[in-house]
Amino acid sequence: CGIIGIIGTESVAPRMVDALKRLEYRGYDSAGVATLEDGKLDRRRAEGKLVNLEKVLASNPLGGTIGIGHTRWATHGAPTENNAHPHFVGGVAVVHNGIIENFAALRSELRAKGITFHSETDTETVAALISTLIAEGADPVAAMREAVKRFEGAYAIAVMVEGEGGMLLAARHGPPLAIGHGNGEMFLGSDSVALAPFTDRITYLEDGDWAVVTADTATIYDGSGAAVTRLETRSQVMASAVDRGNHRHFMEKEIYEQPEAISRTMSRYIDFAELKSKPIDGSIDFSAIDRLTMSACGTAFYAGVVGKYWFERYARLPVEIDIASEFRYREMPLGPRDAAMFISQSGETADTLASLRYCKDNGLPIGAVVNVQESTIAREANAIFPTLAGIEVGVASTKAFTAQLTVLASLSIIAGRQRGTIDDAREAELCQALVEIPGLMTKALNEIQPQIEKLAQELSHYKHVLYLGRGTSFPLAMEGALKLKEISYIHAEGYAAGELKHGPIALIDEKMPVIVIAPYDAVFAKTVSNMQEVAARGGRIILITDAEGAAAADMETMATLVVPKVPEIAAPIVYSAPIQLLAYHTAVFMGTDVDQPRNLAKSVTVE
Ligand code: G6P
Repeated sequence: CGIIGIIGTESVAPRMVDALKRLEYRGYDSAGVATLEDGKLDRRRAEGKLVNLEKVLASNPLGGTIGIGHTRWATHGAPTENNAHPHFVGGVAVVHNGIIENFAALRSELRAKGITFHSETDTETVAALISTLIAEGADPVAAMREAVKRFEGAYAIAVMVEGEGGMLLAARHGPPLAIGHGNGEMFLGSDSVALAPFTDRITYLEDGDWAVVTADTATIYDGSGAAVTRLETRSQVMASAVDRGNHRHFMEKEIYEQPEAISRTMSRYIDFAELKSKPIDGSIDFSAIDRLTMSACGTAFYAGVVGKYWFERYARLPVEIDIASEFRYREMPLGPRDAAMFISQSGETADTLASLRYCKDNGLPIGAVVNVQESTIAREANAIFPTLAGIEVGVASTKAFTAQLTVLASLSIIAGRQRGTIDDAREAELCQALVEIPGLMTKALNEIQPQIEKLAQELSHYKHVLYLGRGTSFPLAMEGALKLKEISYIHAEGYAAGELKHGPIALIDEKMPVIVIAPYDAVFAKTVSNMQEVAARGGRIILITDAEGAAAADMETMATLVVPKVPEIAAPIVYSAPIQLLAYHTAVFMGTDVDQPRNLAKSVTVE
């Protein structure tokens, strides 16, 4: 969910809506804004996308120069208008991101005190507790101080109290919350992106902090109630909104931006002229470790799995990788010769952050591959390895994924140098392979586009798809399946080609196309055997390979997508093009909401 709060000098409702547009990547199930006008609370809320809230406000505007707003990704309670934030109880308005885990206990306690609840949300409990404390005699600040002691779970909240037209209250435990300093105005926001049009002077609340914000002051307290000073930083985020250009969707634009994003990212790690790796942040010394632990969620996790193959192959460095929601509770034993690496586009994913903190508490050096460089994960890591993909708007990640791969490929070469597993000649050869990627990617995107459009139309009639690959094409198969699920709502599974015979082969029939990612490499022949097994059972194959592979496979397929011949290390990056375009065009044929697919959010700050 996304949060905004403004104590301003002019009408805040339209400004809050603008800020919420910049936060829509955090959820778009419903939205709402509340203001105080003449000391009275009022609000407008709407189910669905922000445009619905805009329509409500157009026909029924909301005055007031202080307000809080929210865009929701539902956790507790369906995304109805009634469950939309802000929630009001007894003159207290609350917007909230996260989960109050003890809300059921708090709710019964408050019910016993005579509170009636009107929604199914945990958020309403926050408003109810604060208003009860005020009713029992506390002033709003004291009520906030007491309330935050009672909440369990993860939350970022903004509170506005009836009759308190000059003050907003805020608290953070888990999901991020920032205070923006304006001129005679103050702001609260989930991130500096939301606040960028208003100010670049940002103070991030730390975990356990809560704050009292007025038009010109912000007083911050830590969990023990002691006043604390938190650094004010200058945000680098640009205020200008990103636009789609000539593209139908952000996703399409971002797919085509990849050659540039990859090249920009790579230039940070690789010296193109010398064909050598560049020195990196010394907080992680790959020669001083025996194992690298990686963790991430979703697409970033699949990038990490590809990274594992690279680190093990080129740097002979064993890599442990797990999805962050599992890793954080696994209590994995960690030793003095371990380092940890976290991969995240947003840098805010709750499970990834929790995993980072587990490793940090165990004393490991922490590296983070992040796209948003002012994010919590970036701030908490020892070494930041940025992906310079630029803002990614489409919920289904594309350019951030290939930028993550670019960083991991580069780091595996750097690690190989540090560990002595790669000599000068090999380094030059691998760097040369990387340097060719942007050009090869452009070629791939342009050459396969017309063929993919035709194929996507056909694919849109199927309900199930199986993706297969070996080696680094295996995680890519999982990513291809994820892309299909996310935006075209086709049930898809990614499998290691060799694992086919151990279960999924039972599913093979003419109703489930099998997409095989198979560059003509060392394991190509093995993958062809698996394709034969599919064909022998009446399965229909879509083969993604290069010209040599197409000739060598010599099989009848539903379609063969031929991409340029690529060096081994470049394959997962270049082969991302066809799997992304296939999902994209299939979704377009099906008429789904490509950039904001149902039920998803781009940044998930709850576990
Ligand atoms: C969400 C998004 C995915 C993304 C994942 C991890 O589920 O919908 O596209 O891969 O979060 O996000 P991160 O920002 O940590 O890379």
